[in-house]
Amino acid sequence: MEQITGYLCRYKNYNFAVGYTTPEHIDSLQSFEIRDSDVLLVTYPKSGTIWTQQIIISICELDGGLYEYANNLEHMPWLEYSEGRGDYTVRPSPRLFTSHLTPALMPPGLKDKKAKIIYVMRNPKDNIVSYYHFCRNCGDLETPKSFEDFFEQYLTGNVGASSWFDHIREWHSKRDQYNILFLTYEDMILDLKEAVTKICTFFGKNLSEAAIEQVVEKATFKNMKKDSKANYKFLPQDKVKKDYMRKGKIGDWKNTFTPAQSQKVDQLLQERLGDMSLKFIWE
Ligand code: A3P
Repeated sequence: MEQITGYLCRYKNYNFAVGYTTPEHIDSLQSFEIRDSDVLLVTYPKSGTIWTQQIIISICELDGGLYEYANNLEHMPWLEYSEGRGDYTVRPSPRLFTSHLTPALMPPGLKDKKAKIIYVMRNPKDNIVSYYHFCRNCGDLETPKSFEDFFEQYLTGNVGASSWFDHIREWHSKRDQYNILFLTYEDMILDLKEAVTKICTFFGKNLSEAAIEQVVEKATFKNMKKDSKANYKFLPQDKVKKDYMRKGKIGDWKNTFTPAQSQKVDQLLQERLGDMSLKFIWE
């Protein structure tokens, strides 16, 4: 692990928060055995991870036969973090995991296309603002000097999980190798029921209309904020000082960005991802 700053370290071209994992653990993922029934949620940080965790867990719970865990973090642990990690090889199926990793660092067994991957992405403009506030609140991440400074660090990939642009490109360009469903945070905001239904269909689960409504109810911002298993308030205060669930809106970037910053992101979207078949419908 190459230490970049007091808070950030780098291994295999990817930036990790200091103290969360080890090279040995990341290397061990190359021989981690994937089961057909595994479900993996993959996101770039601040794209709606804990929201989608809540949806996935609720769907699986309603479908029956799911093991009880103390909270959503224990239920859908991050594959890449070695800190406080249990032995996942003895977990009952279906195992649910979360990850911010890029495809190169993932267990190769995922390419057998049996395990299911849900990839959630978010408008980078809102993502930057959300990430900025998170860094201010999270004791394990460097407090940004200013929004302007964080904006530049983010665009150069000098943050945890490295570059947003690379993350999207790498996962989307390798999509044919995986059994993967792409969703956006904006899809979920605009029509949560539709997003839940898409996930159910992807899972091959035939939930009733009432059960789907129940999943939607549990995943609203208001209800998740009160749900002690889902809202991440169970994390120690030195890790997350304020609410993990901040605003939960689309378009909040307009309250923070200058016109020049907005243009810069538009230009980078064009330069870095403009050739991809992926069409972003942000708002
Ligand atoms: P904001 O900071 O813009 O409010 P992640 O889970 O990947 O860290 O993403 C966190 C972002 O998702 C935060 O965005 C948080 O408020 C938002 N979020 C979490 N649960 C949500 C929900 N039920 N509805 C809408 N947004 C939600």
